[in-house]
Amino acid sequence: MSNVILRPDWYLPDSAATDPSLYLNRRQVLRTLGLGTIGLATLGAGCGNANGTSVGADSAAAPRSSPRPDGPLDTIPANAPRDGYPAMRVTEGFPEPGRPITERLTASSYNNFYEFRNQGDLKDLWHLTADYEPFPWTIEVRGEVEQPMTLDVADLITEMDLEERVYRFRCVEAWSMTIPWTGFPLRKLIEKCAPNSNARFVRFVSVNRPEQMPGLANSPWYPWPYFEALRMDEAMNDLALVATGMYGEPLPKQNGSPLRLALPWKYGYKGPKAFVLLEFTREQPPTFWNELQPAEYSFLSNVNPTVPHPRWSQASERFLLSDTEGERVPTLMFNGYAEQVGALYPDEPQG
Ligand code: MTE
Repeated sequence: MSNVILRPDWYLPDSAATDPSLYLNRRQVLRTLGLGTIGLATLGAGCGNANGTSVGADSAAAPRSSPRPDGPLDTIPANAPRDGYPAMRVTEGFPEPGRPITERLTASSYNNFYEFRNQGDLKDLWHLTADYEPFPWTIEVRGEVEQPMTLDVADLITEMDLEERVYRFRCVEAWSMTIPWTGFPLRKLIEKCAPNSNARFVRFVSVNRPEQMPGLANSPWYPWPYFEALRMDEAMNDLALVATGMYGEPLPKQNGSPLRLALPWKYGYKGPKAFVLLEFTREQPPTFWNELQPAEYSFLSNVNPTVPHPRWSQASERFLLSDTEGERVPTLMFNGYAEQVGALYPDEPQG
């Protein structure tokens, strides 16, 4: 990882970002304020579904106005390992986000996790995670590796030096957030898996637990379980993070407990949540949204303002600081990480 801290033109000083002590105490603040009623604004949206209906991006970014309880912050599994949280924040090797951190409650109540989606408010799915028990959790490693293996996630969390990274996060639905993730480089996980020289791609498959995930039955037309993949050079890039936590604590269930990928230069759907399989392959594997709607979701799916989505312009995005604030701002090439990843994509229009 290089030690250069880039100061792009959208840079804002750290003082403009939310003080971590504020978001860490937000739950307390909400309790103090007695915000106890649920406001279920119907926001809709999604990456687009297989039976042809889809809902627009901008409705997804519509701000909520009602106060909500701290339920979304109470969904961290009770048996999630706590050692290593909060982790030391790392700032070297990638640009600062240049905008404040999204309020924690917003990041944990405005979600895409189709395995938990209901027919109502598609984003507000945290309350459907009650039956989901992620720990204990193992990941199967297979394919082009020296030796297939099974990894225990609690062991991994203990073994890896957890770090915090504040990344910009961009959904193809044209909303964005700034998230302080806790985790470790994907590269470290891959090195542990010891892929052989045939490995050109790595494939991820999410968990499939119909008895714990109501969205699976609600959306039978999707080819469950969720699957994604990266080229090996992408997966080994310093930016690629395995996130096991956010906002200084383990991941809430709706954010992908016990682990997910955070790939800040790609649209959010390239980051599988709750994966149970890593498979190294010679050939490019199929990916969930690309298989469903190839004209709308490419394999690479890098954030690129010059490549419009057939239904949604990607030239700008709505930055969600909180439930009530959603400022429209220009989209940055590779979401602001062109310096780190641009060289990986010589064939991609880079404006
Ligand atoms: N992973 C799984 N297994 N299932 C999903 O539905 N949704 C993706 C991605 N990973 C998804 C997933 C999409 S479309 C986005 S935008 C992000 O998760 C949303 O992450 P968040 O809910 O933490 O904001």
